Amino acid sequence: MRVLVVGSGGREHAIVRKAAASSLVSEVHCAPGNAGISRQAVCHPVADTDIAGITALAREIEPGLVVIGPEAPLCAGLAGTLAEAGFKVFGPGREAAMLEGSKGFAKEIMEAAGVATAGFARFVEYEAAMAHLSTTSFPVVVKADGLAAGKGVIIANAMAEAEDALRQCFLDRSFGDAGLEVLVEECLVGNECSVLALCDGETVVPLEPAQDYKRIFDGDRGPNTGGMGCYSPVPRVPGPFVEEIVENIHRPVIEELARRGIEFRGVLYAGLMLTGDGPKVLEFNVRFGDPETQAILPRLDSDLVELMLACASGALDRQQLRWKEDRAVTVILASAGYPLSSSKGDVIEGLDADGQLEGVEVFHAGTAEEEGRLVTAGGRVLAISALAPTFTEARRKAYTAADKVRFEGMQLRRDIAEEPARGEA
Ligand code: AMP
Ligand code: GLY
Repeated sequence: MRVLVVGSGGREHAIVRKAAASSLVSEVHCAPGNAGISRQAVCHPVADTDIAGITALAREIEPGLVVIGPEAPLCAGLAGTLAEAGFKVFGPGREAAMLEGSKGFAKEIMEAAGVATAGFARFVEYEAAMAHLSTTSFPVVVKADGLAAGKGVIIANAMAEAEDALRQCFLDRSFGDAGLEVLVEECLVGNECSVLALCDGETVVPLEPAQDYKRIFDGDRGPNTGGMGCYSPVPRVPGPFVEEIVENIHRPVIEELARRGIEFRGVLYAGLMLTGDGPKVLEFNVRFGDPETQAILPRLDSDLVELMLACASGALDRQQLRWKEDRAVTVILASAGYPLSSSKGDVIEGLDADGQLEGVEVFHAGTAEEEGRLVTAGGRVLAISALAPTFTEARRKAYTAADKVRFEGMQLRRDIAEEPARGEA
């Protein structure tokens, strides 16, 4: 069977690797892919949001499964178009993707399903939102409703910052149309955790949890990024706790969608704050996390393609997931200027001819090939994932590998998985 993966990041590289290793798969294709992905998949220069282009490509390749990685094509309705054309698709349709595409819609579903989340108010008018601020306590969280590439969330510590955030959304239109509806949300305190679950519209099966590091600098300082590193599993979220989270969060949401005639087939990612009052939802994503996927999938012993096919065809109840005991630590290498800007065309040195390093898995994100040389081509450039029996050892392997890589202005956090490693001492 041929598999087509849509997307071009480290997440897609991790999916492509697993697909290439599946006994069901003869050929992996990717659109558009990147320099690392091209080692395991045939890459096609079609943008992930080009629905007509991807559909035409699928007609050419005739894949047995199409996997849609990023949120933009999911929210644009690629899954529905491909399904109508007769393809099996891993990834929800446009309506279900609204869980990520509209934070207000996600709140509406959570309220109806009785799922715990931060208290909030929803606004479509600048003046009303400004007036509401006088009734809130600080810090408060201001969120653009729509997709804003991880940038539409502002934690305001005082009135002036909150007012500025509302101005950015409504007046400066810093987040485009995504910011014309705004949530003003209670600021939750606690540890964050990502719990992802596979869904076939009915059956919900959790993946092992992961902990993402969102800020650019060590000690959780500096601006938010797409994610600078990750580890999995999460010692403070053991198996029974994951089951409880899925029962109280993922399952009621899937059921509420089903009541509205919306089927969710794919992976539902709950970004959680573990508060003193229990886990509360910060956000839903309707896709695999990046870099969570680069830490989670290397630990998965089951055949990913078999699982995704089961999601696409409503047969997930017959699947059992198997995991490696090893711990996974993923360190992101980002380009100069990230996350405010990113540097392109810097030569990447230190990787072998396959774009890999011994003892770890290197997932390519923003990489390209120029005149035979590997160069940076985006904010997050590479993800280095190491597996080992302990977090301490996995960290050592990941950082030893990371220190072999060089490019101009390379940024990385040095404290990924420091906390669980300290717990082992
Ligand atoms: P989101 O894209 O909604 O996950 O927000 C990005 C990041 O902002 C989250 O990972 C949290 O670190 C932070 N955040 C979002 N909402 C809240 C909240 N209600 N309280 C505290 N932090 C939040
Ligand atoms: N790592 C956060 C995300 O994928 O949205």
